[in-house]
This record gives sequence, structure tokens and C-alpha cells, in this order.
Amino acid sequence: MKRIGVLVSGGGSNLQALIDSIRNGELSAEIAVVISNKEGVYALERAKQYDIPSRVISHKDYATVADFTAAIVSCLKEFDVDLVCLAGFLRILDRVLIDAYPNRVLNIHPALLPAFGGKGMYGHHVHEAVIASGAKYSGATVHLVTPETDVGPIVCQGIVEVADEDTPETLAAKVLQVEHRIYPQAVRLILEGGYRIDGLRVRRA
Ligand code: GAR
Repeated sequence: MKRIGVLVSGGGSNLQALIDSIRNGELSAEIAVVISNKEGVYALERAKQYDIPSRVISHKDYATVADFTAAIVSCLKEFDVDLVCLAGFLRILDRVLIDAYPNRVLNIHPALLPAFGGKGMYGHHVHEAVIASGAKYSGATVHLVTPETDVGPIVCQGIVEVADEDTPETLAAKVLQVEHRIYPQAVRLILEGGYRIDGLRVRRA
């Protein structure tokens, strides 16, 4: 059974989607550990509910991003993780994570990358920018993490229509539904290995 480490910072609805897809047999894997950079977030409650080990590793306890990331890597190694899923994890990490898990770190982003990504583009900021741009469609992207923020090979995407009356909140809710559908699909593809990476394209093998 492949072991997944899930990194969170908030509510953890994407963590829940992964838990649900494992429980309903869609995904054959085990969540070995949930790591949060914040105490008291609901994602930790979800882990507890399903008896999944969890740890809080706060960026505030480390002088540098590299030290913070090294602490996370050491925890992932302790739990013998095969794949790392960033699921609403809102801190930038150092490349020591990617060096430890090359092509084995996934991130979910609440827009259609490569649009509306990069530093500062997270959570509601993304949906505000999409609405301000006048774009007619948005969506979600699961991609492999590379040293540059939100730029790695795209594994799965799903789209939603941006309605005239959408607010950042209503758009976020629609996008989240897509996220919950595509994250388990992306994890499954990566764990089953039926793909090859060709530049920024993840091709089905
Ligand atoms: C999700 O919309 C996720 O795409 C976003 O944070 C939310 C977390 O929700 N992530 C980013 O913006 C990363 N750039 P969740 O805690 O309910 O899964």
C-alpha cells in the first residue's frame, strides 16, 4: 500500500476528498501522516476523526524556509511516505522537499494554471483576480511541484464557468467541488504510474 503525506494549512476539504476516495475504494493508498503548519485548523480535526497521525510543524519555529522544509521532510521520512500532497498548504517550501521526493510532490491550485498562479496567488486572492480579469472560465489544477511556484507539469485540470453574478466566495465554492473530484484522480494516476513526463506535459503512458 502506497503511503501519502498530506500537508495542510486550513479546513482540509481536499484532505477529506482524499480520505473519502480511499474509503470508497477509488484510491488504493493510505494517508500515513497529516502535517499542518498551523495549530487548531479543522484539517487536524479531520485527521483525528479517522485515526490518521498528525503533526504540527510551524514555520514560526524556524529561522529559514530551508530549515522549516527540512523539518517537514524529516517528518515525512519518519512516516515512510511515498507521495506528498499539498492540500491547501499555504507556505512556500524550499527545494529540499523536491530533492527528497523528485516528481513525488503534488499541489492543488484553485485556478487553471499557468494563469492566476505564482507568489501571493492563493485562496481568495486567486478567485478575486479571476473575477477582476473578466475570465469566463476558471477551475482547478493538480500539478507536480517544481522549485518555481505553481509552474510544474500539469497532471489534471477541471473547469467551471464564471457566472456574471459570481463573487470570490461563490466561485471558490464551485472550484472546490472540482478540486475534490480531480485531486483523487491525479493521486491515483501518479501512484499507478501510468504516465510519463514530457516537459510540462504529463502524458498517459
Ligand atoms: C483550496 O481551494 C486550494 O486549492 C487552495 O486552498 C484551498 C484549501 O482548501 N490552495 C491554494 O490556494 C494554494 N496556492 P481546503 O483546506 O478545504 O482543502
